Amino acid sequence: MRNGVLKSVKGGPKMALDTRGSRRVSISEWFKERLGLEDLAYPVPAHANSLLYSLGGISFAGFMLLFITGIYLAQFYHPHPIDAHASVVYMITRAPFGDLVRSVHFWTAQIVTLAVLIHLLRVLFTGAYKRPREVNWYVGLGLLALTLGLVFTGSVLKFDQEGLEALQHNGEAAEVIGALGGWFSAEFSLSVPMLTRLFNGHVTILPLLFGLLVAAHAFLVKQHGISPRPTVEAVSRGTAGEGESSFSVHLRRMAGYGLVMLALALVLSVVWPAPLGQPGVAGAEVTKPGWMFVWLFPAEEAWGSRALAVVPVILGLLLALVPIIDRSPYLSPARRKGLLLAAAIILLALVVSGVVATLSPVEAHLQ
Ligand code: HEM
Repeated sequence: MRNGVLKSVKGGPKMALDTRGSRRVSISEWFKERLGLEDLAYPVPAHANSLLYSLGGISFAGFMLLFITGIYLAQFYHPHPIDAHASVVYMITRAPFGDLVRSVHFWTAQIVTLAVLIHLLRVLFTGAYKRPREVNWYVGLGLLALTLGLVFTGSVLKFDQEGLEALQHNGEAAEVIGALGGWFSAEFSLSVPMLTRLFNGHVTILPLLFGLLVAAHAFLVKQHGISPRPTVEAVSRGTAGEGESSFSVHLRRMAGYGLVMLALALVLSVVWPAPLGQPGVAGAEVTKPGWMFVWLFPAEEAWGSRALAVVPVILGLLLALVPIIDRSPYLSPARRKGLLLAAAIILLALVVSGVVATLSPVEAHLQ
């Protein structure tokens, strides 16, 4: 240490003795000063620490866990159609803690997807997309697309029956949108199998885009501050620099929520390890996708493969219209009944569609 020596003081925390003077500083103070952590103690409103206002941070903590566990899994995964399934079997049966790490990756992905969706609903319900936060709403929509893209590509990788069917549906949807299907169709690169490219997407392209968008998202949250509580009189405005609590308290909460999420994922992993079916048989349709995509089934049945591309695009456009349609400054849900009712009806339709699809027998859709 340049300016001081470390000393253990009886009964107290480890102290650093500043050799330029007699002042003793704790180790945490030493780090705070050297890393400039004091700057993180800027004011934030107290309601920013509530669970509902922490879901974005919880999603971020979950993504960190996904990156760490994903890097470990990638050491054992072979992204080729012939070897992929066998490499997952190897990962589960032979790699040290492979089954547990894979299961934690799987369960964290489920929790994060749910957290992102509830975060979106919180932002929608509290009017937090209004001026000056419209751009962050659009950045958030990008993050939602990336989250679903990561879940989708991840579910193909295991290349069991469910993974293969997901890949085949991917191909059909890409054909429907024609030239726009570009990267998602097998013809894009005849020298590399689609599975290998989806693996590339899962571990490089999507995480890179995620990093860029999440940095923009966090920057904008910092610039505008968290939206005010949606009381009857509250209007949307920037709150940067205001508040009774501090961002360091918020960060400590986030770390706590992150640990709770890890504990939950561990328990779920031990009780229900991540599933792996038999190697896929091309052309067969006997499985259903995960809960985040299963609601598309009834639409696919009614309108064919084009629904897989068209319905998500329509929903995305509706979400994109929200800040354009609702431009009043009021945050209170009571003052935005029309928009929230429309959102509730669409959400209910999606949930009912998901329940119907889950309960009904598997139908063959592939052409
Ligand atoms: C991977 C996904 C996402 C991450 C990691 C993330 C992260 C965050 C974080 C940390 C915050 C601060 C407040 C909080 O935690 O609630 C926040 C706020 C916000 N997020 Fe997200 N977010 C994600 C997805 C989304 C989505 C899907 C939307 C909506 C389309 C969205 C829109 C917003 C908006 C508008 C704010 C400002 C809220 C306010 O000031 O009250 N985010 N996000």
